[in-house]
Amino acid sequence: MKYALVTGASRGIGKAIAIKLARELQYNILLNFHSNIEAANATKELVEAENVQCELLQFDVADAENTTKALEEFSKANPDAEIEIIVNNAGITRDGLFMWMKPEDWHSVIDTSLNGFYNVTQALLKNMLKKRYGRIINIVSLSGLKGNAGQVNYSAAKGALISATKALAQEIGKRKVTVNAVAPGFITSDMTADFDEKELKKLIPLNRFGEAEEVADLVSFLASKKASYITGEVININGGLYS
Ligand SMILES: NC(=O)c1ccc[n+]([C@@H]2O[C@H](COP(=O)([O-])OP(=O)(O)OC[C@H]3O[C@@H](n4cnc5c(N)ncnc54)[C@H](OP(=O)(O)O)[C@@H]3O)[C@@H](O)[C@H]2O)c1
Repeated sequence: MKYALVTGASRGIGKAIAIKLARELQYNILLNFHSNIEAANATKELVEAENVQCELLQFDVADAENTTKALEEFSKANPDAEIEIIVNNAGITRDGLFMWMKPEDWHSVIDTSLNGFYNVTQALLKNMLKKRYGRIINIVSLSGLKGNAGQVNYSAAKGALISATKALAQEIGKRKVTVNAVAPGFITSDMTADFDEKELKKLIPLNRFGEAEEVADLVSFLASKKASYITGEVININGGLYS
């Protein structure tokens, strides 16, 4: 049984990705989330409506021990399961000026995006290399490319993840495992719910925020066999805001 693991898939972009990978590529879904069990269950129903299996895996990607434990337990209970796709999507923001930034706001953002990538990917990589097939897709951000005032922590986490994407791609290309990053601009989700879209959209050539489904379309392509010759790339999806 082939599975795609999507972290932070109870809501927002991760949710759209989980549904899209089920619908378009017929992958069974390992749906990771942190705490919102209601949202996770609602997404599971939508994934299952695509006639695939969906397993909920609740763990904090920033917590190395729990991440490893959850993934090991899943493999033990499902010896036939092959995780072919990892989408490292879980991420948080704790915005504020660097001058006033509290240590917990610095560390939690890095721990989730960057260490989360390490915790999840490291636990699953060996198997992908053994099978000589895999797709690793990291959801980064425009902030990780250009830097964003008020988001020094987030820009650092996403920027480091972009570099990790490029380095890992070079390490494991020989084993036919590709590693790419997707860098969204402003996308409608809970993360951007408080943003002033009317003002911000003036900066965006396409004059609107993007939809989670549009990011999911790109991820689905990168996760497919059609993207076999793309690795180490960062693909922008930002309405022309920056590229
Ligand atoms: N929205 C944008 O404009 C935008 C732009 C660029 C990049 N991104 C990136 O896209 C990704 C998804 O963003 P989004 O807008 O969909 O965010 P969102 O609506 O806030 O959803 C975040 C998701 O991540 C999960 N999550 C948070 N911390 C986690 C942790 N420590 N362990 C496991 N799961 C965790 C949440 O689970 P619970 O439901 O359990 O809380 C939820 O499913 C993030 O990496 C974000 O940085 C977003």
